[in-house]
Amino acid sequence: MAQIGTDIGHAVSLLESGELVGIPTETVYGLAGNALNEEAILKIYEVKDRPKFDPLIAHTNSIEKVKKLVTSIPDKAQTLANELWPGPLTLLLEKSGGIPDLLTSGLSRIAVRIPNHDLSLELLANLDFPLAAPSANPFGYVSPTEAQHVEDHLGMKISYILDGGPCKVGLESTIVGFEGDRATVHRLGGKRIEEIEELIGEVQVEINQSSNPLAPGMLKSHYSPGKKLLLGDIDENLEKVGIERVGVISFAKQYDVAKENQVDLSPNGDFGEAARNIFKTLRYFDRDDIDIILAELLPEEGLGRAINDRLRRAASE
Ligand code: TXA
Ligand code: MG
Repeated sequence: MAQIGTDIGHAVSLLESGELVGIPTETVYGLAGNALNEEAILKIYEVKDRPKFDPLIAHTNSIEKVKKLVTSIPDKAQTLANELWPGPLTLLLEKSGGIPDLLTSGLSRIAVRIPNHDLSLELLANLDFPLAAPSANPFGYVSPTEAQHVEDHLGMKISYILDGGPCKVGLESTIVGFEGDRATVHRLGGKRIEEIEELIGEVQVEINQSSNPLAPGMLKSHYSPGKKLLLGDIDENLEKVGIERVGVISFAKQYDVAKENQVDLSPNGDFGEAARNIFKTLRYFDRDDIDIILAELLPEEGLGRAINDRLRRAASE
């Protein structure tokens, strides 16, 4: 069992001695370790049971610190950094010397982000190294949005989790890379593409759907709630599978199943609320009296796109 608390001093001393700590961010909880220490990075891959070809994001608390990790910042990246950090946005930038290859899985770019969470910003301000922090879930499982979620699956492998309350965004950061003057979104996430395009103009969207990624990014099957998830028209699917032992995930709509067997992600149709609820709901239905989860897609806009992406991955086998 890990200890759950708000003692930043304790987190600092663990991280300084190469140990891992669960940390809150506005997107999801992270499993953090010293991003410049190969042993700490190795521990992260081990604790998550994550393949080493899937690189980690480095977190810091200032653009000054980011500059030390990269060779240069293209104009569009600088604009996004100025306007959207701290926030749910990760930038892929050419890494400077001294960044461990283990962090970036041997790639030439490093993923960097300044998270928007008071506790983690204070923690990062007290460290003279960046924190590598993937989502704090076992590889392939649903991301954690509360300290208790981290405890539930990784608590036996780490000693401390900083508790920053429930995550205010609830989806991982949007990942953007740059090639010359072109910006490409590699993962849909908590920062809406519409907002990014208002700042830097049109962006490409290239989401890696491969189940055998040559270029790491996103594995197709991910966010698996431990149950089969059927995506599509819920009434139709209820006719096929019956109303017993099913979990229903809907958006601004209720269905004819027991109350404890359905979650309306947002009765008022609010995307932000749905984003905060999606991972918690997938976990909620990972229980013994449920055999199958039925879910419907949201409108394909704003955060709806990112939520749909997670639902599709959770549904893929
Ligand atoms: O919101 C977030 O980004 C959370 C919080 C904790 O900050 N972190 C997170 O990390 O979602 P993780 O490891 O679960 O997802 C990071 C994604 C992976 O799909 C990885 O392949 C990609 O970022 N990535 C990391 N470094 C990369 C790089 N150098 N080039 C391409 N993709 C990279
Ligand atoms: Mg993850």
